[in-house]
Amino acid sequence: MKLTRRQALAGGAAMLASSALARPVAPASLDAIAGEGGRRFGSAVAWAPPGLDAGSFTNPRYAALLEAECALLVPENQLKWQWVRRAPDSFDFRAFDAIADYATGRGFKLRGHTLFWTPTKWYPKWLAEMRFGSAAEAERLLTNHVRTVCSRYGDRIYSYDVVNEAVQPETGKLRDTNVTRALGGEALLDLMFHTAREAAPHAQLVYNDYMSWERTHDDKRHIKGVLKLLEGLRRRGTPVDALGVQSHIRLLEKAPVAEIVRQSEKPWRRFLDEVVGMGYQLVITEFDVNDHEAPTAILARDRMVADYGKAYLDVMLGYPQLQDVLCWGMCDRYSWLDGFDPRADETLKRGTPYDANFAPKPLRTAMAADFAQAGSRHV
Ligand code: G3I
Repeated sequence: MKLTRRQALAGGAAMLASSALARPVAPASLDAIAGEGGRRFGSAVAWAPPGLDAGSFTNPRYAALLEAECALLVPENQLKWQWVRRAPDSFDFRAFDAIADYATGRGFKLRGHTLFWTPTKWYPKWLAEMRFGSAAEAERLLTNHVRTVCSRYGDRIYSYDVVNEAVQPETGKLRDTNVTRALGGEALLDLMFHTAREAAPHAQLVYNDYMSWERTHDDKRHIKGVLKLLEGLRRRGTPVDALGVQSHIRLLEKAPVAEIVRQSEKPWRRFLDEVVGMGYQLVITEFDVNDHEAPTAILARDRMVADYGKAYLDVMLGYPQLQDVLCWGMCDRYSWLDGFDPRADETLKRGTPYDANFAPKPLRTAMAADFAQAGSRHV
């Protein structure tokens, strides 16, 4: 009998947990538990040459974790322009093809991240330096990109981050780059989503951004800007199905978890209510917890990360419009958080469900409890 990925997962996490690492046995995978509430769970995955200790499916230890816990995958980097558009006139799909083949072969569903990542600093050098002679030239470049990617993968990608991070957090306005200037920010958004809808008619089309529930000034402006962007898309009839809430949440210095939650929850719910009120679905696309400012002691830190993650997910999972939850990596050993924002004490960040030795952490337990609780609300 061929098991579905979900049936296999229910047993897989238990096997992983009872392996030589002698961890406590997990009763079911995160995806299986999320499934009780009609949801799905997944993670980012990278590609690296076999033999490298990386968050890649070619690393057997990481692959085992993905296969035990997840039904959804998203490439951490390998579908970005930096990887597939190393030169203006060509595409290089080798790394992403390897991810897509792995995902398809193992029965994962695959998200496409991303067809256009707006800030200039993430463009390949040739694109950042490009001077467009006309709007038509920029339009040709973007539509060609979307059509090429979407036609190559067809129904193998069920959901795309069509545009990523179009809003400048400090101002709430659309970002100003050589590409957005050539077309106009709104026209660029409309072009990307219309082209994606034509080229991938069955895919879920997502606007993805990192506005967060923490109440800094930038977060407030960012949230306002994203709402304005979403309103504009609806008003103009642009085909967008969902808001991708990246969910790189972060513990704040000296503020107890309960205090951050107390300040964040109400305004964040107001934001989400407005978003779903406009008819958008929600996707948690890149969940992790930045513990940059949390204390060094592991037990206390893991507790804070778990409590904070749980409080956040409690709010998010209250929305039936949220179906898919993806972590931005499953294991602290490979988290992007260390590369970008290392801790002052030089210890590894602990913002994912598994620690650097592949042992499940309180965050994993909290997520499982949240998914189970959300499941019981839906039956
Ligand atoms: O692989 C090279 C390595 O050979 C080299 O020694 C090293 C030196 O810097 O760089 C390595 O590549 C890095 C790559 O990640 C692999 O780890 C790149 O410099 C680095 O820029 C790249 O960062 C990625 C970042 O996006 C930029 O593309 C992170 O992995 C990835 O997690 C991050 O993901 C973003 C989402 O796409 C959008 N939302 C925010 C999220 C986190 O920043």
